[in-house]
This record gives sequence, structure tokens and C-alpha cells, in this order.
Amino acid sequence: MTSYSPEQTIRKTNTLDDFWMPFTANRQYKAKPRLLERAEGMYFTSDDGRKILDGTAGLWCCNAGHGRREITEAVSKQIAKLDFAPTFQMGHPLPFELASRLAEIAPAGLNKIFFTNSGSESADTALKIALAYQRAIGQSSRTRLIGRELGYHGVGFGGISVGGMVNNRRAFPLQLPGVDHLPHTLDIARNAFSVGLPEFGVEKADELERLVTLHGAENIAAVIVEPMSGSAGVILPPVGYLQRLREITRKHGILLIFDEVITGFGRVGNAFAAQRWGVTPDIITTAKGLTNGAIPMGAVFVDERIHDAFMQGPDGIELFHGYTYSGHPVACAAALASLDIYQQEGLFSKAIELESYWQQALFSLRELPNVLDIRATGLVGAVQLAANSRGPGQRGYQVFEQCFYNDLMVRVTGDTIAMSPPLIVEKHHIDSLIDKLADAIRQAH
Ligand SMILES: Cc1ncc(COP(=O)(O)O)c(C=O)c1O
Repeated sequence: MTSYSPEQTIRKTNTLDDFWMPFTANRQYKAKPRLLERAEGMYFTSDDGRKILDGTAGLWCCNAGHGRREITEAVSKQIAKLDFAPTFQMGHPLPFELASRLAEIAPAGLNKIFFTNSGSESADTALKIALAYQRAIGQSSRTRLIGRELGYHGVGFGGISVGGMVNNRRAFPLQLPGVDHLPHTLDIARNAFSVGLPEFGVEKADELERLVTLHGAENIAAVIVEPMSGSAGVILPPVGYLQRLREITRKHGILLIFDEVITGFGRVGNAFAAQRWGVTPDIITTAKGLTNGAIPMGAVFVDERIHDAFMQGPDGIELFHGYTYSGHPVACAAALASLDIYQQEGLFSKAIELESYWQQALFSLRELPNVLDIRATGLVGAVQLAANSRGPGQRGYQVFEQCFYNDLMVRVTGDTIAMSPPLIVEKHHIDSLIDKLADAIRQAH
């Protein structure tokens, strides 16, 4: 490890005053910045020249690692050929080609693809499609949406309404009406240190029956959940839980939406968590790994029966929804190149191949001080630490910061450290990640 020097970082950069940073403690960061200047393969390079092991695939998005030449070339070629073309009442070939490629890897039936620019837009798009679909089939009273505690569906008003991370909602009281939430599935008392999916908690899906009784099935349009809650700290679905949600939603004519913005494109094995865990929802939302993080883009995978319901009735615009950049040519080029890499390098099965090595490596941290729980599946995992006496989140932040000094990038949510390395990760990277993290956990107090 080379030595870290915040002073040097500050001197080299401008005052950092004018960028209002997202989801960041701006004053804390600007007093002690962490700047990444380059990236290649499994590593970032910081502005003080250190190679930082990427333990988080950027922000859960660079699944094929950084600096992929194939993507750079595809993007450069595309921007020179067609920088932009509208997709409202016009078209260009790329989104059609990309949609067909995506339909090939999607769970059966989810072959109608709507393009967005982010996970937040994908979530809002899915909710709007669900509401409009219920109307289109004559079920206009189905206007309620159900999310889940600790869920994260981005930052649009739809997403924060169905989401369940308290800080993301608290300052914005004006949210969608008619939303209710399922309980979250984090249950450390019963499931701590589960290897793979936790054994206990399938009954939490039965809460949906309670909400159906409370609100009336005829008033509920859709349920949205992440198959695995990523942002809240890698909360895994209990065995049988997703299946139960599927049974209940199907029984009551409620659409089931999986938000796979993190789990999509290989994170837990297979292309989608829906395939890994054998449950097919009606709609899947994605973003992030779709373009390997290189260009902003999202995609919503919709069951053809939902799509087809919109294609009845008089000719005309079927869905009054879309973004200027839906199906942007440069983003499509990045996505097509990313898909090529994922498929040529077999990255959708990498998370299954390395899963047991990854789990064993993470579970080796079990005896370290203050470790309350470890959760891991595919190539994603989390270590939940006990809060220290200075308050919730303080120890977690300390570990996160120390990891950076140890040349490792992780994510922190409260006192939970989350990791999701690029799927090109090798065993020696995993070993190094664990060493650096263990050192940071030992140093935290
Ligand atoms: C499950 C999920 N949905 C939606 C989003 C929002 O995506 P974006 O930040 O691209 O809007 C995220 C981002 O982390 C996510 O994890």
C-alpha cells in the first residue's frame, strides 16, 4: 500500500466549492477529498497515484471492469456516425437491435423493452406502465402501489414513494398517495451469518395478503421489490419468499415488479436474479450494468402480455411516456458492446462459479471485532458492524474511509459495508480485498 495524503489531494485540485455532490456529506468530503482520476480492469487510480482495488464495480455498475476498449471504441464510432436521433415518432436502428438482444437474455416473456437513462427513471417508468396497464384492461380502480421497507428504487417521486429508506423520504413529504409497504426481510436475530439465502422469513411475504385484505385487491396495481435489496446493505430474500410474493400477486391480479438495477447483468449469477432464484415477475427494471456504467442508460423489461394490452384500441400513441434520450444511440452502442463482453467472457455465470470462494472469504471476517452479520450471494456481500458509542453510521464510515487509505473502495450504508466487485474479479483480488477490509475493521473503534 502506498501512503495516502489528503493534503496533497487538496493542493492538486481546485477549491471543490461548486459541485453539489449527490448523496454525499459535502463538507466532510471537501475537507478531505477522495478523487479518482483513472480506471482500468479491477483498479481505480487516485489523484495521488495509488491503485485502488474496486470492490464495488464503481457504484454496482462496471460489471466487466474498467476501461474496456470494446466499449470505448463502440462509443467513439457511434458518436461520430450518429450522435443523436429522436425516438419519438422517429427511430434509428440501435434501440431496436439492442431491445432484441436484451429480449434474448430476459426471462421468458419479458421481451418488450422500454429505454430510460437511469435506475430512477426505470422505476418510475415501471410504476407508470403498471398503472396504465391496469387502466387499459378496465381495472381503473387499481391505483395503489406497494413497496417494501428498506427498499431503494431511486430518487424520483415514484421511487421514493415506494422506497423504504427513511432518509431518502423524510425531507420530501409530498409523495404519491395510495402507497403501502411490506416489511423488510432483514432478520439478524434469526438469520445472522446465513450462507446463501436466509432460512427464515418466508412468512414476511404473507404480509401482502394482509395488505390485500386491508386495501382490497381491486385497488392494488403493483408490488415493487428488489429481489435483493442492495443499497440498504445487501439484504437477501429468505428461501421461498420471492416465490410466495409471486403466488400472491398472481392470485390477486397484481403486477409484480422486480427492481434489478443492481442484480441485473450477472451480479447474483445468471443475467437476472429472476432467473437465478426461479421467479419471473411481470416487469424488470434495470440500468447500471446495462452499459457497464460507461454511459447512462436504463431499460425496463415488460411482459409481452402487458405490452400487447396497450396495442389494442384505436391507432395512436399508446403510452404517453418517454425521455428525450430513450434509446440514445451512443448509450445503445455502449450497451451492445457490454453485452458482447458479458457473453463472450461468460460473465453471467462468473458469480456462480466464484460464489463459494467469495462466501468463504467474506465469512473469514466473522471473528473480527464488532461484526454482527455477514451476508453474501453471487458476487455481492456485506459485513454489518455494530454501531459504536458515537452513534449509528460512525464505525461504518470509519471502516469505509480506512479501506480507501488501504487502497480499497467499498460502499457504506450506516454501519454496513457492502461489496460487489466487477465480475472479472479473480481469487487473488478477493484475497486482497478481504485483507484490506479486515485491516480496516480491526482499526475501527
Ligand atoms: C435497486 C435500485 N433501483 C434504482 C436505483 C437508482 O438508479 P439511478 O441512481 O441510476 O437512478 C438504484 C441505484 O442504486 C438501485 O440500486
